[in-house]
Amino acid sequence: MAYHYAKFGAQIVITARREKVLQQVAEKCLSMGAQKTLYIAADMSSDSDPGKVVDFAVDQLGGLDYLVLNHIGSTPFSMWEGDVQHLEWLMKVNFLSYAQMAWKALPSLEQSKGSLVVVSSVLGKLSSPFVAPYTSTKFALNGFFGALTHELAMKNSNVSITTCTLGLIDTDSAMEKVKDVSHVKAYPASEAALNIIKTGATRQRDLFYPWYTYIVTLIRDFFPDARDYAIQKSYSYTP
Ligand SMILES: NC(=O)c1ccc[n+]([C@@H]2O[C@H](COP(=O)([O-])OP(=O)(O)OC[C@H]3O[C@@H](n4cnc5c(N)ncnc54)[C@H](OP(=O)(O)O)[C@@H]3O)[C@@H](O)[C@H]2O)c1
Repeated sequence: MAYHYAKFGAQIVITARREKVLQQVAEKCLSMGAQKTLYIAADMSSDSDPGKVVDFAVDQLGGLDYLVLNHIGSTPFSMWEGDVQHLEWLMKVNFLSYAQMAWKALPSLEQSKGSLVVVSSVLGKLSSPFVAPYTSTKFALNGFFGALTHELAMKNSNVSITTCTLGLIDTDSAMEKVKDVSHVKAYPASEAALNIIKTGATRQRDLFYPWYTYIVTLIRDFFPDARDYAIQKSYSYTP
């Protein structure tokens, strides 16, 4: 997404934990046409870092047009074995930090008639095996930002919220997790990223990418037994 924003000539702040990688991405963004690219290393499981990142971006850029919330913590692709500590940690990274950053950025986004873009998943609409902690965080995001969408509308806010419902995307991390178990086709990360940016820029409420995530969302409650059978059969698993 940073590279697409760079090609549009944006001023960008990126964040993650690995400073070296951030530095490399920032350099590439500049070479691709970004007006300005800054980075700040931060850990979204910390109580204070989510707020610090937004403060840094607002100070350095003098305001915000978009806040794109995309980061996720690493989580095992396996059956739930009762690790509540991991669940708490993942909730902090994938959900609570999103709520913190969104709240912190709202005054600046109000000023610019800006947009909040929340990257969620079809697993925030539909439960699936092997991803209990992850799917919980994505359901939480959809509930929270759904409520915030109502509240901003009721307050006549200038800020739009876009929620992105993604299917399987061919990022290295996702491919590594599902390589031996899933038969679902993965869609290209660069195309997903461009769709996220366009949907946010046009202030649309939802992105469904790829197309089947929309169909899944529409029909998920029609035939629950058939749905669950199909989901379970889409994985290779022997107990
Ligand atoms: N790929 C898919 O199939 C797929 C499907 C549906 C939805 N999505 C959604 O798309 C988004 C991007 O997914 P992805 O596949 O690109 O994920 P990814 O490859 O795992 O990337 C995660 C990013 O978050 C950063 N991160 C991890 N832990 C962090 C922490 N504690 N604090 C701050 N940053 C942290 C990582 O950098 P550091 O390690 O340096 O911190 C990395 O830049 C996510 O919201 C995901 O849920 C993806």
